[in-house]
Amino acid sequence: PSRDLLLHEALTGEMNLSELHFAENSHIADMKSLRNDFTRFMMLYKFAIDEVTTKISILQEEFSLVHDYNPIEHLSSRLKSPESIMAKVARLQCEPSFDNIRNTLHDIAGVRITCSFVSDTYKVFDMLTNQKDIRILEVKDYIKNPKENGYKSLHAILEVPVFMSTGVEPVKVEVQIRTIAMDFWASLEHKIYYKYNKDVPVALLDELKVAATTASQLDATMERLHDEVKQLDVDTTM
Ligand code: GTP
Ligand code: MG
Repeated sequence: PSRDLLLHEALTGEMNLSELHFAENSHIADMKSLRNDFTRFMMLYKFAIDEVTTKISILQEEFSLVHDYNPIEHLSSRLKSPESIMAKVARLQCEPSFDNIRNTLHDIAGVRITCSFVSDTYKVFDMLTNQKDIRILEVKDYIKNPKENGYKSLHAILEVPVFMSTGVEPVKVEVQIRTIAMDFWASLEHKIYYKYNKDVPVALLDELKVAATTASQLDATMERLHDEVKQLDVDTTM
């Protein structure tokens, strides 16, 4: 069998090594080596997530100590499942080789940072991307330029070095930075989108758009109040 077919089997979980004792020895060796390669492939993305989340945790802790307030409300991450990887590969019609998957899929490793205020999203983005081992491959600023449906978030594809015993490997991580209000909206919109199987009634889409505007207004008000209170702090210490 071809390596691509094996890779497909490995990714979709159709490969069962225990049933292989009837197969040819060379085939078993191929499959085992492929399974090792695949484990290593996924591991790199897990380590890249670890690298980025550690960097963010450090910034979070240090920032709260120095500035007496925390720009990061919440941090979450996810590793794309082999099934989702294969589904996306099929959808994009790219050859299922490791190199192709690495070059085509930018969201195998995903990190989401939720901030209290809009200004913090940019602050956190700068603090993270100013680190010299991080390379920015792409930025999509859906905060400045919201999507048609009202979606807001700051997206970036970053590349971080992962140090393995065999050397250093650059690995892509998709980072999404948004406010609590944007996150609240996006979670519900995502749920509705899938509930209606991506075909949401127009009336509901309109209401979601209004809700997105309301969320933005809340963000603006909260930021202004926060600034005013910060100003008071400065005044009382003088
Ligand atoms: P994919 O759509 O993920 O293949 O990538 P893309 O090249 O379109 O990138 P984009 O930056 O537009 O979106 C990447 C991710 O952002 C998505 O996988 C979602 O997690 C999130 N996202 C983008 N648009 C929306 C949206 O309209 N609603 C919600 N809830 N999430 C979105
Ligand atoms: Mg998209």
